[in-house]
Amino acid sequence: MSKEIVFISGASRGIGTSIAESFASHGHTVIGTSRSNFTFESNNENLIPLALDISDRDSIRECVTFLKENDLSPTVLVNNAGITSDQLFLRMKDEEWDNVIATNLTGTFNLTKALIKNMIKNRHGRIINISSVSGLMGNPGQVNYSSAKAGLSGFTKSLAKEVGSRGITVNSVAPGFIDTDMTAYLDDDARDKLIKDIPLNRLGSVKDISDLVLFLASQEASYITGQTISVDGGLFMY
Ligand SMILES: NC(=O)c1ccc[n+]([C@@H]2O[C@H](COP(=O)([O-])OP(=O)(O)OC[C@H]3O[C@@H](n4cnc5c(N)ncnc54)[C@H](OP(=O)(O)O)[C@@H]3O)[C@@H](O)[C@H]2O)c1
Repeated sequence: MSKEIVFISGASRGIGTSIAESFASHGHTVIGTSRSNFTFESNNENLIPLALDISDRDSIRECVTFLKENDLSPTVLVNNAGITSDQLFLRMKDEEWDNVIATNLTGTFNLTKALIKNMIKNRHGRIINISSVSGLMGNPGQVNYSSAKAGLSGFTKSLAKEVGSRGITVNSVAPGFIDTDMTAYLDDDARDKLIKDIPLNRLGSVKDISDLVLFLASQEASYITGQTISVDGGLFMY
């Protein structure tokens, strides 16, 4: 794979950090973001941390200026930043709906809109959206999150059809339950119950996700577009 400039939202921990480190260890330059200032634990000099709130369009404009000033033109975009705010539908507050849609779905729109022009100019690009099993099979308490993640599937397919002729692929990865801060709230009982429904009998690791993202960004994946690919140990089968 030729050396790319890779932009990853939500890279300060969990799946995003794993994706960032994986690209950096293959020699790619990686701009990784989160809402607050952070540093990468690994001292790989290919890693550039940046504060950015993807739900805030002013913050995105500042980021685009930073990229221009530093002559950084990403050709790989991983829309990974995501939040949950779980609540049963009847109790769900407007702000719990709004915040989850604003980050998971609108944030993906905001960032893609800002970075795709350069990919079109280069006639080369890879956009990879991190979705969720929850958007494919639903999950009680996650009407907001499932809606946002299901929305990413439509986003992925429509955009893939629009920009395929420009040499840009657009795909989604739908993780199942992955061992990160997002699933840290699960107690041992809840974990055991979940694992019983997973044919491969374990939660996923961050590397299970970053390995697929690295592949989707490669030349070998150049004929794959518009897809949502599950990495969930078999939890959801189409
Ligand atoms: N873990 C799972 O089991 C699982 C399952 C299915 C799908 N996913 C999806 O995988 C992705 C990563 O999940 P994770 O488990 O690694 O989550 P995580 O550990 O909670 O990390 C989320 C990352 O997103 C950043 N972030 C959140 N809101 C942001 C915003 N508005 N702007 C910029 N950055 C923001 C966070 O940093 P700050 O908080 O500092 O901003 C952090 O870096 C998410 O899209 C999630 O929905 C995870």
